[in-house]
Amino acid sequence: MKEYTNLLIEVEPESGVALLTINRADKLNALNYALLTEMSEALDEIGASAVVRALVVTGAGSKAFVAGADIGEIAALEGEEDGADFARFGQAVFARIEALEIPVVIAINGYALGGGCELALCGDIRIASETAQLGQPEVNLGVIPGYGGTQRLARLIGRDRAKGLIFTGERVGAEDAYRLGLVDRVVPAADLLEEAFALARNLAAKAPRAIALAKRAINEGSVLPLNQAIALEADLFGEAAATQDRREGTNAFIEKRQPKWSGT
Ligand code: COA
Repeated sequence: MKEYTNLLIEVEPESGVALLTINRADKLNALNYALLTEMSEALDEIGASAVVRALVVTGAGSKAFVAGADIGEIAALEGEEDGADFARFGQAVFARIEALEIPVVIAINGYALGGGCELALCGDIRIASETAQLGQPEVNLGVIPGYGGTQRLARLIGRDRAKGLIFTGERVGAEDAYRLGLVDRVVPAADLLEEAFALARNLAAKAPRAIALAKRAINEGSVLPLNQAIALEADLFGEAAATQDRREGTNAFIEKRQPKWSGT
């Protein structure tokens, strides 16, 4: 993997788990243009890797996961078109996280605000440290969430709960975020990375095509009418049925042994 200024990437070859750390701790890992550009390149590398089977995303330091988009850059926006381009750029980078074929575990180690909360929403499973605080405070800056938050948050926790968070701009602690369905698990800060890795290692050991197809079925199907979503599920089930791993998984069950996945 390449060296980045604002990101750290480490790969654990034996498990296939990659750790992507947002590494701008002096600014609470706020997302500026340079960082998002690097993230886009890093996602290319991760997506193309034959080794990486699951990704953990976290923030550097103990204080913040990501404290939002860079407020200096929002302050410098020059009107409507510039603002829309700003949002589209971040949205495009985040959409690529969501579209990765591998499972993405988000380890929320502190503030996940604005773009940080929106980044977390693009992962598949969110684990929060007890010290985490989440929120969408954009209205306090005179803007709205622009990296997908108005849509993904509403789809995840419900339209009116999302309105509550977005209109007030208030932060919620990890336990409240869990009750809202915004995070899937809350763990002590000291255990966060190990818990995220344990989950990611477990997912990395599954049949990769099955995970990828299940992820597509859920992500793409959840925004379709039910009849179309069900039809998509059948198509993707067909793709899974055509894999070598379907033969291996079913044979292993019948032969009472552990499967050995080939990823084909
Ligand atoms: N964009 C740019 N810089 C940010 C930032 C952001 N979203 N969030 C924090 N920073 C910077 C601060 O400006 C400060 O930089 P400095 O040391 O050069 O002054 C540094 O990170 C530390 O932040 P600070 O505010 O001093 O820490 P704190 O512990 O007092 O407060 C927060 C932490 C998260 C409550 C506070 O930083 C905050 O409210 N951040 C903005 C959150 C937000 O509105 N995000 C949505 C943006 S759309």
